[in-house]
Amino acid sequence: MSITTDVDLAVAALATSHLCAIPTETVYGLAANASCTLAVARVFEAKDRPQDHPLIVHVAEVSDVANWIAELPEWANKLAAAVWPGPMTLVGIRTKLALDIVTGGQDTVAVRVPSHPIAHELLIKLHNQGVLGIVAPSANRFGHVSPTTAAHVAADLGEYLDQNDDLILDGGECEVGLESTIVLATGANPVILRPGAITAQDITDITGLQVAEQVSNAPRVSGALDSHYSPIAEVVLISAIELSEVKTSGGLIAAAEIQTPDGLTRLAAPENLAEYAHTLYSALRLGDEKGLQKIFVVQPVGDGLAQAINDRLDRAAF
Ligand code: TXA
Ligand code: MG
Repeated sequence: MSITTDVDLAVAALATSHLCAIPTETVYGLAANASCTLAVARVFEAKDRPQDHPLIVHVAEVSDVANWIAELPEWANKLAAAVWPGPMTLVGIRTKLALDIVTGGQDTVAVRVPSHPIAHELLIKLHNQGVLGIVAPSANRFGHVSPTTAAHVAADLGEYLDQNDDLILDGGECEVGLESTIVLATGANPVILRPGAITAQDITDITGLQVAEQVSNAPRVSGALDSHYSPIAEVVLISAIELSEVKTSGGLIAAAEIQTPDGLTRLAAPENLAEYAHTLYSALRLGDEKGLQKIFVVQPVGDGLAQAINDRLDRAAF
């Protein structure tokens, strides 16, 4: 299995149009040179991803975004300066550099500046070799749970990557554990297309603007398909009270203060929302590794990060 911790090997792979799964602060991405049509096409092939689901371009610095997005409203520049590098993606009017295969033929492109130190080092080194951006969708089979470790990537895509001399760059566990917040930045107000660790409140605090949420009717956001982020096991959303009446076996994901009833296998017991997000995808995958038929989940309550977690859980349970 071609898992490496050597950033220079990853740079060489990407600069020669190979694929390389890379760590980011959100989840692992399956990267390819965004300006190489053949490499980008292989990303779709590796993931079994429908062609009409556009990709996010990752760049080294905020100043590189202008290569890909032609213009941003003032509020979006403010947001970019405050949040990047970090777990947010902006969707703006594309430049000529953004290929149709990257944007799905739309006139917009999604761009983000990741904060993971290894992703940052990789992007700087690629930039120095003339690679101005890399696409990186989550490095899972389409529809499956996003990977938060190199081992998760290997489990989903290892066979494909091995056969094609592609790489996995191991940067440890992803800190956030949920995909970036996607913000549409083409109008007078921010619109959240996918909730994440950067919350509507954060965006309002930074921009002073009301935020619209359009998750359910934003068909171009693949994570917004009803069924997504799904393990093999059936995900059953349940209240803490109903939990005591469960008679079947299965896994359990719930906040630390909730006890594990007899017969259930605890998969995660997060102490707070950040830990809930950080462990959720590992816990769902662990349920499958243990061969469990059902995974019971007591959802977190509240706005902000809880909303992002519940967005993924609702889709995993669909
Ligand atoms: O945190 C993340 O964003 C991770 C890491 C690896 O950076 N990447 C990720 O990529 O989640 P992916 O492909 O799984 O999700 C990207 C989402 C898709 O749902 C896609 O539809 C949306 O971004 N997207 C890309 N370009 C878009 C555009 N022009 N307009 C609207 N949505 C777009
Ligand atoms: Mg994804």
